[in-house]
This record gives sequence, C-alpha cells and structure tokens, in this order.
Amino acid sequence: MRIDCERVIAAIQGLARRADEPCCAYVYDLDALRCHSAHLVASLPPCCELFYAVKANSDVPILKTLAPWVAGFEVASGGELALVREHFPDVPVVFGGPGKLDLELAAALRLGVELLHVESQWELERLAWLAREAGRSASVLLRLNLSLDDVPATSLTMGGRATQFGIEAGRLPECLAWLDRNPEIRLRGFHFHLLSHQLDAEAHLRLLAAYFRKVRQWQKEHRLDIRHINVGGGIGINYREPDRQFDWPAFSTGLKRLVQEKGMARYRIRFELGRYVSGFCGCYAMEVIDIKPCFGRHFVVGRGGTHHFRTPYAQGHSHPFFVLPVERWPYPFPRPEIRDAEITVVGQLCTPKDVLAADAPAARVRVGDWLVFPYAGAYAWHISHHDFLRHPHPAHIYLPVEENRHAASQ
Ligand SMILES: Cc1ncc(COP(=O)(O)O)c(C=O)c1O
Repeated sequence: MRIDCERVIAAIQGLARRADEPCCAYVYDLDALRCHSAHLVASLPPCCELFYAVKANSDVPILKTLAPWVAGFEVASGGELALVREHFPDVPVVFGGPGKLDLELAAALRLGVELLHVESQWELERLAWLAREAGRSASVLLRLNLSLDDVPATSLTMGGRATQFGIEAGRLPECLAWLDRNPEIRLRGFHFHLLSHQLDAEAHLRLLAAYFRKVRQWQKEHRLDIRHINVGGGIGINYREPDRQFDWPAFSTGLKRLVQEKGMARYRIRFELGRYVSGFCGCYAMEVIDIKPCFGRHFVVGRGGTHHFRTPYAQGHSHPFFVLPVERWPYPFPRPEIRDAEITVVGQLCTPKDVLAADAPAARVRVGDWLVFPYAGAYAWHISHHDFLRHPHPAHIYLPVEENRHAASQ
C-alpha cells in the first residue's frame, strides 16, 4: 500500500505553521487504507473472509473506513467489544483472547457476537454456565495451540510451544467429550494464531496448509460437523527492509491454488489480520528540538518519543524515517544542524530506551525540521504508554477518503 506522501506532508506542514511550540502528530491516510483493504478482500478466494483485528488500531475513523470492506471485526476485550458495538451495531464480530471475564462473556452473548474463540476448558465451563443462565446457546471456535513440524519461526510466536494462548491440541478429545455433554455450546470449528510478523508468503502458505491438514484429520477422527477455520492474523510489515514487504500477490495466488488442491472451498476460512491491514496507513511525525554529539554518536531529540510510538522499541528495530525540511526559524541565532551523518533519533523521556531509530544515515537534519516515521498505523499509538512524563499527546490527523479517486490498489 502506498500512502499519499504529498497529502501527509501538507498536513504536517499545516500543523507546523499553526503550532506555536514544537509538536508531533499521527497522520493517517484513510484513502490509502480504503484502497488497501478493498484490494486485500478482492484478491482472496471466495471461501475466504477478512476480519480486522481491532487491537492493531481501534480509532473510530480507522474502523469506519474499514467497515464497508471487511467481513467483520475481531475484538479481544470487553472494551473493544463495547466500542465496536457502539459504532457498528450490525457488523459481524468475533471475540478472542485469553483471560475473558464472566462480564465479557456475558456481554458477548448479549451483544450478538457471532463466534467466541475459546482459550481454555475453564472458559468453556463458564461460558456454558452463562449461556444456560441466559437461556441461550453460544457458538464457538476452539483456539488450539499445536506443534507443527513445519511452523516457520518469526520474531513473535504464540504457539507451537508452551504459551498462555489456546488449548493444547492434545486436550482436544477431552474438550470434545465435554462439548457432547454441554449442548448449549455449539462447536463451529477451530481457531489458530501461532505467530505474528510473518514476512514470507511461501512459509505462511505452508502454515495454512498444515492447519487445513489438522482440521481435516480431527474432523475425520472425531466425526465433526464443522465449517469454520480461523487462521488468525500474523502477516507482518518489514520495518527493517521496507522495500521487501510480504508478497501478497504471491500469497493470494498460492492460497487460491491451495484451497483448490486441498478441497477447502466448502469451508469458511477466516483471516483476522491487524498489522498488515492498518499498519501502512499511518505515520508518526515529530519536530526536531535538539541535536547533540555524545561519545562519537549524534543524537537528534524529537518532540514526543516512544510513549507515543512504542513500535520500534517493542519490536527491537530501528524505524525507517525521512526528513521533512521546515524553513521557519524563529530564533536570533544560528540554527543547529547536522549533515551526512548517522543519527540516533530519541524522544523526550528520561530513559535511554526512548530510541526510535539508531545510527541511521541522514543527509541533513536541522532543529525545527520534522522527522516522519511511516508504517505507524498499527500497534503504534495503541501500544504506547501515553502518560509517562505527562507530555501532551500528539495531534491525530485523519486524511479523509476521497470518494472520487479511483481505487489505485497497492
Ligand atoms: C488471536 C489473534 N488474532 C489476530 C491477531 C492480529 O495479528 P496481526 O496484527 O499480527 O495480524 C492477534 C495479534 O496478536 C492475535 O493475538
């Protein structure tokens, strides 16, 4: 997906002109988000659906842009469920995640959640009890944690080893026996989310092929009447080498082939992607406040920091950025600048961990210029510790959808 850099830059320049002190902002290109999500949906085989994992970015303008294109939203807390239902009373919702409270399970039953992704046997027990109390049934997928020979390694794995996620696949017979005794819980299928940050399309296809094999094996062994397979999220963004992103065209083509070869067209195969849907549409931009040398390195201090944009620290990478020159200079003395150097971009926090980019080449940066970090639309603002040090929050600018522009997908 390509954001419209000119619009993003114009928005930052407008903000810089209006502001009477250094500031920072998130800028989201909703038109790019719309084109990207429409393209993703259109390129999936007919038996596949795209849900959006709200946790990646739950801002209402983001959700409103996505709602017409995606098949529904995946929520992972009562808070996300309440937000989604407040703004989208009719959009299909599925509810996953560990540690669901009775209150949240009851809300899911009341608010018409289509499928609950059950994470443990105890959760099943409580859900059945709540469903009985409410005089209704609940449709579920069992989230399974299983070890596969061929699971590709990524920097973040939620399964294939001991984790808090899902039900160990070895316990499936026990769960199925329990389900036989508790008819208010209807098993519709299985849910998997073994990893995030997948950058390799072929490896992801192999993972899906392994899920499909397992589901068919269980179906045969236990004579299950199920149709749903949720293959989770997990497609990554390549922050380290932005020119080498996940090969979606190869993936969607390979998926069509896989579905056909393995006879999967009669299933409903659901994706719940977060990062790969909204990550590209946002930028975090900060004004440069200070530039200083220290023990042979060059530090550029920006307005803001990891309390707004924690992604680089959370993922352990140096985030790509570009410099947006701003000519305004209000002081009666020379402007600090650095040329042709490797710079380390830090924020305003009192911790050496407040680093957004490390030793990155820069042709010229001056105090008062802006640094713009793309790929900041997912797991960025929403995973950050906003009130540490109580600096002001960044501006949030949503560049609207342009109704008359052709969907220039990708
Ligand atoms: C169960 C589940 N589904 C979907 C997602 C979304 O993953 P991603 O944003 O990597 O696509 C996550 C992320 O942690 C998850 O835990």
